[in-house]
Amino acid sequence: MKSYSIKELLSSNLSLQEVSVEGWVKTFRSNRFIALNDGSVLSNIQCVVDFENFDEALLKQVSTGAALKISGTLVESQGRGQSVEIQVKELEVLGTSDPDTYPIQPKKHSLEFLREKAHLRVRTNTFAAVMRVRSALSFAIHKYFQDNGFYNVHTPIITGSDAEGAGEMFRVSTLDQKKPPLTEDGEIDFKQDFFGKETNLTVSGQLEAETFAMALGKVYTFGPTFRAENSNTSRHLAEFWMIEPEVAFNDLDANMDLAEDFIKDVINYVLENCNEDLQFLEKRLIDEEKTKPQAERSDMPLIEKLKFVADNNFKRVSYTEAIDILKNCKPNKKKKFQYVIEEWGADLQSEHERYLVEKHFNCPVILFDYPADIKAFYMRLNEDGKTVRAMDILFPGIGEIVGGSQREERLDVLKEKVAALGIDEEELWWYLDLRKFGTAVHSGFGLGFERLVLFATGMGNIRDVIPFPRTPQNAEF
Ligand code: 4AD
Repeated sequence: MKSYSIKELLSSNLSLQEVSVEGWVKTFRSNRFIALNDGSVLSNIQCVVDFENFDEALLKQVSTGAALKISGTLVESQGRGQSVEIQVKELEVLGTSDPDTYPIQPKKHSLEFLREKAHLRVRTNTFAAVMRVRSALSFAIHKYFQDNGFYNVHTPIITGSDAEGAGEMFRVSTLDQKKPPLTEDGEIDFKQDFFGKETNLTVSGQLEAETFAMALGKVYTFGPTFRAENSNTSRHLAEFWMIEPEVAFNDLDANMDLAEDFIKDVINYVLENCNEDLQFLEKRLIDEEKTKPQAERSDMPLIEKLKFVADNNFKRVSYTEAIDILKNCKPNKKKKFQYVIEEWGADLQSEHERYLVEKHFNCPVILFDYPADIKAFYMRLNEDGKTVRAMDILFPGIGEIVGGSQREERLDVLKEKVAALGIDEEELWWYLDLRKFGTAVHSGFGLGFERLVLFATGMGNIRDVIPFPRTPQNAEF
């Protein structure tokens, strides 16, 4: 008998055919109705057992979480809630599940509780839906770039350079931690380490992606990145996935156009391909919002919000304009912000970003031309000598989702910047070489994949959109 996924059973016309299916029991009611799910779709398939035909001991093993193989006839359903069901002829319990200790019971569990059971939480409707949307987004991202003439580059995970210059990196070393070899000055002697130098997990593939853009033209990376920042927030992970396109001959305007077109495209992809999961997540969000005070509730249902972003232009605003808006806004004047904006040059905190997006403009915003002092060394200096061609994209409910820039292509200016920041030129010799051999205007950006998944699923905490989150004090599983 042919085996089908539940997705196939529910979407094809197999009525009256003999089929078999494997999955896990969601519920077993009245010793008669098994709701079986195999993860292929949100919906379960109802399997109807004529209990007189089955051994009582066998049916006793059909409990929530057990793995079953079921064979029978697919028929139109008599009951409400499903179009088809299986009249069970054969039932095999592949793996039992002890109902007293199985943590995922058919009732509502808190997200916090489920985080402790991350190895099983994907069996819940919410996490299965989130992870299917995550998978669809990942596919859509590769599809977008491949359809638009980009080449995928696998940039290294272990690196000797700090792309963002923030120094928040995880060291990679095979030295004896208790007794590392020391130099004459008493410093750790990294020459004796595995790579003969200090190395870390990468914070970004950008610098290496730039080398490829200057040969292949349009490239993108999509890989894991690591940051040892001690930010215990609902928007930060220590290990997250980043998409970084890099394009030769693109200036900042073209970079903004690319980012906006790309984000809209992948959101449209999930709108078109993840309808059932999005509807479920939208309903989940509505239920969750009901528990919040009126003032904190989001005014747009999830799908409408996704359509809104896909259909409307992002607002482009210079940093200088944004500072004017923030300096004069009510929460700033009434000192409601934790960090009051006093003057030009201030780094924007998420409270400011969210004010701009959620209160002032009410749409995604691209902020550009930031003060050089608060941005990374590789960004192109503007003619004013104090701002750089940087851009951040801010999203409702998320804050910063993209960070990017036009890169400094002038060797002398870049060298000055590197020196001013005390970065060792030797460390970046190969990066500087790009400015010696056929340098050209080029730009790129980084999109935090989990922040995009947060937005697309309406989830509230970044720990709930990655299979096994890595955060300070937490690397279980
Ligand atoms: O703004 P960031 O630091 O930019 C870069 O790393 C550049 N090298 C990108 C480039 O131009 N190629 O990070 C880019 C994005 C942020 O906008 C945010 O969405 C995400 O990465 N991000 C994080 N996501 C989760 N947890 C963290 N700790 C994150 N830090 C950054």
